[in-house]
Order: sequence, then C-alpha cells, then structure tokens
Amino acid sequence: MKLEVELFILAIESSCDDTSAAVLKGNVVLSNVVSSQDIHRQYGGVVPELASREHQKNILPVVDVALREAGLSLKEINAVAFTQGPGLMGSLLVGCNFAKSLSLALGLPLIAVNHMEAHVMAHFIQTTEGKALPELPLLCLTVSGGHTQIVLVKEDFSMDVIGTTIDDAAGEAFDKAAKVLGLPYPGGPLIDQMAAGGNPHAFTFPVPQVPELNYSFSGLKTSFLYLLKEKVGENPNFIEERKYDLCASIQHAVVDILLRKFRKAILVSGVKHIALAGGVSANSLLRKEMLRLGEEMNCEVYIPPMQYCTDNAAMVGIAGLIRCKNRIYSTMDVRPITRYENFLGLDG
Ligand code: KG4
Ligand code: ZN
Repeated sequence: MKLEVELFILAIESSCDDTSAAVLKGNVVLSNVVSSQDIHRQYGGVVPELASREHQKNILPVVDVALREAGLSLKEINAVAFTQGPGLMGSLLVGCNFAKSLSLALGLPLIAVNHMEAHVMAHFIQTTEGKALPELPLLCLTVSGGHTQIVLVKEDFSMDVIGTTIDDAAGEAFDKAAKVLGLPYPGGPLIDQMAAGGNPHAFTFPVPQVPELNYSFSGLKTSFLYLLKEKVGENPNFIEERKYDLCASIQHAVVDILLRKFRKAILVSGVKHIALAGGVSANSLLRKEMLRLGEEMNCEVYIPPMQYCTDNAAMVGIAGLIRCKNRIYSTMDVRPITRYENFLGLDG
C-alpha cells in the first residue's frame, strides 16, 4: 500500500501528559508541536486530574501554532485524527472532544487512532532527508511508559502483538528505578544521561524467566529496590557514591531483557526488517544495541528520529492517513478507550 496521498490531516495527541498537534500533507509532516506538562515533576509521576486540566488549557494554543507553522488555515484541512487510547481517561477525553467538535463544525471526517499503533507508524513518516521507509513485514519493539510490545506489522499495515509485558512496562522500570534513586519524573532520560558515567556491569540482576515472547519487569524493580535497601543499610551514602554505576547497571539490565526476547522474536518470525518505537526508543544504549543486533542477525534496522520517539501528534497523523486510505472513519459516538486490551475486537 502506498502512503503518499495528498491529504491535509490535522492530528491531536493527548493520551498522557503531552498535548500535541500536527499537520501532515500525506506522509510528510508540516508541523508537529508538543507541549509537555512540567507540573507533574513535583509529584514524582503523572497526576491524572492535573493532566486533563493542562490539556484543556493547552489544546487550543497548540493546534493554533501547528496550523500556523504549517502555513494552513482550518478551511484547508481534509480530516481530523486523534488518539482514542490507550491512556488516561481525562486526558483522552480532551483530545477526543476537541477533534469531534472540529469535525462537526467543519464537516470533516473524524479518525480515531490507537496510540500504540501510532508509535509504530511513526516509521512511515517521510523525513526531509528522504530516508527509505521500512519494508513490510516489519518486526517492531514498542517500548513506552505504559506498554512493552513486540509487534508484527503485516503488508497491509495491520498489526499483531506477538509479545507483551505481563506486569510493568520497560519505561516504568526506568521511571521507578529513577524514583528510588531520588531522581525527578520522568526518570528514563536522566538514567540514560547518568549511565554514560557509570559501569554497566557494577551490579547484576536476575533475568526474568517468562514464557514465549513475553516480558516481565517487576522482578527487576524489586531486585533493584532490595539492592538499594541492603547497601544503604551498610552505608547511608551508597546511592550518592554509586549513582552513575547504579544507572548504568539498571539501564544495561532493561536493555538486555528487551533485546533477548526481541532476538528470539526475530528467529521465530523470520522477519528481516526490524524497528524500535515508543518513548524508551530514545534510550541511547537501546538504540546502539538494536543496531548491533541487526548487524548480528543480518536485519535492516529502523530507529525513529528523536522527535518521533516520545509522544507526538505526527505519529497520530500518519496512523490516521492509513485509516483514511482504508476509509475507516469514526462517528460522533466514538469514545476514548483507556486500556490496550479493550481495543481488541472494537473499532472506533
Ligand atoms: O511513549 P512515551 O512518550 O509515553 C507513553 O506512551 O508512555 O514514553 C514515555 C516513557 C517514560 O517512561 C520515559 O521515562 C521513557 O519513555 N523514556 C526513556 C528515555 N526517554 C524517554 N527511557 C529511557 N531512556 C530515555 N532516553
Ligand atoms: Zn506513547
């Protein structure tokens, strides 16, 4: 299926704590504006009620800037795409209702998008460098704050989740480890930075034994916590003295768990085009090790540009384009879906 339809799509993302709007012309991004909510830092995690209030404040200015940067007015838009879920109900409602209002007022087709599929679809945005788009089938490791999935993208862009976490997500493992180290939320990017100054083999953790292509990160979180408790009991300055080694070791453990299973998925599926997606795909070690794995397994590797790793509306726009091409539109009774599992068998 070819993607470069000359449609102007306005896309909205509001699933968690980033308010984002993008304008796409076919598979080319004209603007992609993200407003991140700093308010949650002081609470050590996203506070749902505050997140929805911030979205409500930010959505209009963010859409306005996205249109201005694209050099378009609302009259020139052909369709409105929005994130239906998974995510926080209050946050999703803001984007969903905003998109519905626009669609109703302007008589535009409304397209509901699955956030996790959108992370994968970010690979099909045509970049200005003209880099080749991935070939299908594609095996994608999608790692975010709430999900960890191995996704098989088939020739028609339909997706099968062939592996998932049975408890915490990889991003949660980073964020929770950071929290016990006393680092602010979200801790993933900080662990990445601090890991550069530490020894990844200073501390080791057991590898979880989970069947098939599934993941588990709760055991790692517990081992990390117990290590800190034990060592701080012996030396109250332990965390401060060893923070770089601790960051490097936990990062190494998360990436090792992720890629062990993904390696197995490559072998089982026989797919030779592999990709990373989701917020954790911004992690420098994961990006490096994925490239190394691709070389070892003789696979073509696709790593998303940084601006399309964490939550953004451009990825919602490209996922919306596919739905538009397949004429999968939503009606005014479309509602947010908070859990990924609840998407199965349902359609906007
Ligand atoms: O996809 P995303 O922006 O939001 C969700 O859909 O959850 O992912 C956010 C997650 C957070 O857990 C954050 O700590 C993690 O991505 N993250 C990172 C890095 N950048 C973002 N984790 C490790 N290293 C990074 N550089
Ligand atoms: Zn996300």
